[in-house]
Amino acid sequence: MRLMHWAVAALLLVALAGRAAGQANPPEVPGENGGWRSGRATFYGGPERFLQSFADRGPPPEYGFGTAVFGSCGYTQQNFTEGVTYDNVPYPKEMLMAVANVDVDYPGSCGRCYEVRCHSGYVYANGTQIYNITQGYSLPAHAPNATDDFGRTWLGNPTEAEQLQSVQCWNDNASIYVIVTDSCPCVQTDINTGAITGVNPPCCGDIYHMDLTYWGFEQLAHPLNGIISTQFRPVDCTTKQPLQFNPGFVNQTIYGERVETGWGWFPYKHNTVTFWSQGYGVGGSNATCISIGPTAGGLTLACRECSQSGYQPFKGASALEFWIRDQNGSSTIPDVQVGLGNYDNKHYCASVKTGSLSSVERQGLYAKFSVPISSFSCPFPQEQISQVSFQNSEGQLVSFCLDNIQIVGASGSGRVQSSSIGRHRI
Ligand SMILES: *[C@@H]1O[C@H](CO)[C@@H](O)[C@H](O)[C@H]1NC(C)=O
Ligand SMILES: *[C@@H]1O[C@H](CO)[C@@H](O)[C@H](O)[C@H]1NC(C)=O
Ligand SMILES: *[C@@H]1O[C@H](CO)[C@@H](O)[C@H](O)[C@H]1NC(C)=O
Ligand SMILES: *[C@@H]1O[C@H](CO)[C@@H](O)[C@H](O)[C@H]1NC(C)=O
Ligand SMILES: *[C@@H]1O[C@H](CO)[C@@H](O)[C@H](O)[C@H]1NC(C)=O
Ligand SMILES: *[C@@H]1O[C@H](CO)[C@@H](O)[C@H](O)[C@H]1NC(C)=O
Ligand SMILES: *[C@@H]1O[C@H](CO)[C@@H](O)[C@H](O)[C@H]1NC(C)=O
Ligand SMILES: *[C@@H]1O[C@H](CO)[C@@H](O)[C@H](O)[C@H]1NC(C)=O
Repeated sequence: MRLMHWAVAALLLVALAGRAAGQANPPEVPGENGGWRSGRATFYGGPERFLQSFADRGPPPEYGFGTAVFGSCGYTQQNFTEGVTYDNVPYPKEMLMAVANVDVDYPGSCGRCYEVRCHSGYVYANGTQIYNITQGYSLPAHAPNATDDFGRTWLGNPTEAEQLQSVQCWNDNASIYVIVTDSCPCVQTDINTGAITGVNPPCCGDIYHMDLTYWGFEQLAHPLNGIISTQFRPVDCTTKQPLQFNPGFVNQTIYGERVETGWGWFPYKHNTVTFWSQGYGVGGSNATCISIGPTAGGLTLACRECSQSGYQPFKGASALEFWIRDQNGSSTIPDVQVGLGNYDNKHYCASVKTGSLSSVERQGLYAKFSVPISSFSCPFPQEQISQVSFQNSEGQLVSFCLDNIQIVGASGSGRVQSSSIGRHRI
């Protein structure tokens, strides 16, 4: 079972009429790669100290602001002994971000990084209207003197008298770097029944929308603003150089030093698991390690909504390669079932067992496997494959580490386009 805890936008303002927009905000930045684009951001999560001023929104400890410790990309290293806190998420809490599921580059967005700036001025409720501050829940109306974590008070709304939302950013030129770990669904549904459980108007696609965490948001503007206009661009997580925007970048390497851009990470029914264990990888690099059993469990790495054109990470691929070792230091190569499938519609190909394959290379405790895609006998077209999973067999206790999981020979997608400045241009 996957844990799917959807983000809830902190500020569920209803997108109702304000005055028609003036020229306060620039139009959408046109589409060249590397360019800044206009967007909007809300926040979720936050420190109890700040949130408790808004106790009428919901019960503690979240007060209706939600939490980013579980995201729809699955990057939570759950500790069943301790419970889950921001310490169980591999990235700092100010970097976590939920992208609206109707944003144009939502497919393959897990693990994608963005540089984000705040843009002072009016905030649009939709393409043409400015937020009317009398609609919805106003944070400053409840606690105008609430300070952020740096002790700063709100700078106020210069257009309060007009009932229109405008924001004074701390510094329009300052940027933060965030990574997608979650999604903000426009229409929220129950995973089991499919019933509609809520709507997040800001995430419904009128303007590119991100839900930052309180801690990222407060670096750009005072959290009492609740909602800000942004400028943003996707960047290489390591070099911070701009990347292509549409289609969004998906790495052909699924796991390198971390779960790479494009991929969610979903351990299930595990005893212990790590997103990245330093020193456990091939040649002392990072690996992802999991211990499962005696019940059936595993680790799935998936690219969401990636079977559409422009993404399709397995299109034309010849093989899936990966390195695997026993986590506890045995030189015996763990016998696990490797499977491919389509993450979104839950269609699966056949699985193969590492125990039935010959490794193509050994290094220390590690063995490298190269499995032809044809070995998985997928009952659907190869370009619709969007996940790989590693599972135990029922009853088997197994503890293993994986490294350098990659898709080999793919033709279609996932390449850094030539106009990007990334170090790893292909
Ligand atoms: C804002 O909403 C209120 C309440 O619906 C309305 O009376 C007011 O005219 C609106 N203000 C603007 C500027 O549209
Ligand atoms: C879980 O938390 C306990 C108690 O703090 C700690 O001893 C243990 O090492 C943690 N386990 C993992 C896998 O992080
Ligand atoms: C914005 O909201 C107004 C008032 O609800 C509506 O008339 C208009 O069509 C909306 N525009 C967009 C682009 O959604
Ligand atoms: C906020 O601070 C101002 C100035 O100190 C004070 O006059 C006002 O009463 C405070 N408002 C609230 C709601 O605490
Ligand atoms: C922001 O950058 C612009 C253009 O480089 C510059 O003119 C402006 O002074 C900068 N503002 C601040 C607050 O640094
Ligand atoms: C793709 O993954 C490779 C291998 O881990 C890494 O070196 C590279 O930086 C990644 N590319 C991008 C653009 O993230
Ligand atoms: C390797 O994993 C460690 C955590 O164990 C992490 O801090 C580090 O950033 C990772 N290295 C890379 C290159 O992602
Ligand atoms: C290997 O080590 C893990 C973590 O220390 C432990 O939970 C597990 O039972 C061990 N697995 C096997 C197969 O010995």
